[in-house]
Amino acid sequence: MKIGILTGGGDCPGLNAAIRAVVRKGVSVYGDQVIGILEGWRGLLRKGMTEELNIDRLSGILHMGGTILKSSRTNPFKEKNGPQKIQENVDRLGLEGLVIVGGEDTLGVAYRLFQDYQVKVVGVPKTIDNDLPGTDYTFGFDTAVNIATEAIDRLHTTAESHNRVIVVEVMGRHAGWIAVEAGLAGGADMVLIPEHPFDIGEVCDAIRKRHKRGRDFSIVVVAEGAKMPEGTEGEGYIAQEREVDAFGHIRLGGIGHVLAREIKKRTGFQTRVTILGYLQRGGTPTAFDRILATRFGIAAIDLIHQGGFGQMVSLRGNRVVPVDLEVVTKRIKTVDEDLYHIAEVFFG
Ligand code: F6P
Repeated sequence: MKIGILTGGGDCPGLNAAIRAVVRKGVSVYGDQVIGILEGWRGLLRKGMTEELNIDRLSGILHMGGTILKSSRTNPFKEKNGPQKIQENVDRLGLEGLVIVGGEDTLGVAYRLFQDYQVKVVGVPKTIDNDLPGTDYTFGFDTAVNIATEAIDRLHTTAESHNRVIVVEVMGRHAGWIAVEAGLAGGADMVLIPEHPFDIGEVCDAIRKRHKRGRDFSIVVVAEGAKMPEGTEGEGYIAQEREVDAFGHIRLGGIGHVLAREIKKRTGFQTRVTILGYLQRGGTPTAFDRILATRFGIAAIDLIHQGGFGQMVSLRGNRVVPVDLEVVTKRIKTVDEDLYHIAEVFFG
């Protein structure tokens, strides 16, 4: 078969491992020709944005972060005749199936193209945020949690030496998975996530209580999408800019500074901020992410050959199974409440 593959949305560690697996099994087991489409959906809206992927091209990329195919947040449904252009280019290139590696936005487009334009897609879930419904884990998440945990470990020693409160801001637009897991692993004294709007007074009380116990430093982990409850001063998201991307998302970031200012003002404790930002998305994937991405890539090329279009590969327990791609249009996967309650035991 002649198969296309693209990576869309925010990059994450493990994308190259997934591409490698698709191409390796496609070429050497099925005898496929695999065409890499560059820059996500943008590469199928324009001509000349493809590259044939052979086994040589893939050599040495398993451990590399980013994506050799590059990525973008292009939304074909926001472009004039976008879906028709995609259909035309798929036909022109003679692609008999497409492997789409993405998060909720990229895979949401894949689902619509499959449903309304009969484009033959198979989805592969990725995102450091781990908020995609239909799969227990997305690859990229484990690496981000490990990076954030290492950062928290390092911040602990400097916070302790200076009797400071350190606020660590991590990614997580609508779900606080990175904050909760890195907070748990790193022993954070408070974890603030979008799922649980926080009361700044209560945060300060918890820090004061801890300091009264003789622990005169604290680590507060906050997800970029964390909010104060409705009706309080400063409620709502803190955004870096009001402009939205092609999928309607504003660029978040900066809640850490707002929080640190308030903590200092209310408690008098010296407070500092570290925003981990894109460090969480860059660089080499963990072994877990390399393996998960590889398993997903292998399952995706198998699914193409089984004619399982309109489906996504997913992790359920320890098994990789297909699910209907429609699942990505459902409510995002927020943090498991039981896990949050475990983290809560260690607050203050
Ligand atoms: O990949 C998901 C994510 O990391 C979010 O947590 C974050 O808000 C967003 O991407 C920012 O990405 P960009 O600046 O590339 O749009």
